[in-house]
Amino acid sequence: MPPYSDQTYTPPAAMPHYLIRHASLRQLQVFEAIVRLGSFTRAADELFVTQPTVSMQTKKLADVLGLPLLEQNGRQVRPTEAGAELYNSCRAIFETLANLEMKIDDLKGIKRGRLRLGVITTAKYFAPELLGEFCKQFPGVGSALKVSNRDRILERICANEDDLYIMGQAPEGQPDVESLAFAPNPLVVMAPRDHPLVGERNIPLARIAGEPFILREPGSGIRDATLKLFEEHGIRPRVCMELGSNEAIKHAIVGGLGLSVLSLHTLTLEGPDGPVALLDVEGFPIMRQWYLVYPKGKELSPVAQAFLQFALQTSPSMYERMARLWPDLASYFAMDEKLTPAARTDQIS
Ligand code: PGA
Repeated sequence: MPPYSDQTYTPPAAMPHYLIRHASLRQLQVFEAIVRLGSFTRAADELFVTQPTVSMQTKKLADVLGLPLLEQNGRQVRPTEAGAELYNSCRAIFETLANLEMKIDDLKGIKRGRLRLGVITTAKYFAPELLGEFCKQFPGVGSALKVSNRDRILERICANEDDLYIMGQAPEGQPDVESLAFAPNPLVVMAPRDHPLVGERNIPLARIAGEPFILREPGSGIRDATLKLFEEHGIRPRVCMELGSNEAIKHAIVGGLGLSVLSLHTLTLEGPDGPVALLDVEGFPIMRQWYLVYPKGKELSPVAQAFLQFALQTSPSMYERMARLWPDLASYFAMDEKLTPAARTDQIS
């Protein structure tokens, strides 16, 4: 018996003999590109082939399968029902093959491949740097970073569009995910530098509720956490404005439109001594965490695994970065064992 024969492995009852003989991976690649890009021309451009080649390959594939795969709606090309089935299969096939290519490269000692990272709005204040450091360590790795709101990130997880995600709160229930906390995300009260409360200690929450307040848009994790804290104290903030961007809120604060609660990460570049000041308010900081998230059961590519380990290892420096921005935080981190860098590194297998 050959040494590698695996007694537990049973080949699929029906090997796809017909497709193996009549269809080609190249045809599947062309078809996948047309559906994803919604156009023959764009698919041809992406694959560096002519449009007649694209049309011919797709026609051959439709002939092999015996059903129309695409329908034209004006200038937009959409998959038929059979085409949509084929498209899902193509994605699974290509993901498996891409992982195989990376594993083979890995065995050759080359870290090559592509990392697709999807991050929630506020994670844009550190995710590009993290990615930059990672790519410096693995120069053969290309990357794509998608910054979206929570709803869109959840959609992307369900559609398996990226390798990994960074979120402020892991989804509960559906989609079913693995999540690993790896960095602090303190939410703090911000005010314009010349505000009378700047420099006061332990300001009562009720005092803040009397001030005009700027709130993030519905769907934002920061908004939910802020409203929850006010609600727990039986207080309502005096919301004067809702804005869907952290940067716009910082400018609105400086413009004197109100106070707001944002992640301390939003001050990473300018620091806490710029035009936006931090207030020491009862109940704050709200200590949230950043999570690395991926769908349960997903086989992470070697590059995604390398990034996961890398992000977990950078965890202590993320704590230091936050404590540098606001030294009081060091005592919060020390108080909660779960928040110490040592606890983070424990997760690294
Ligand atoms: P947000 O997420 O940018 O959607 O508010 C950040 C968080 O959940 O803390």
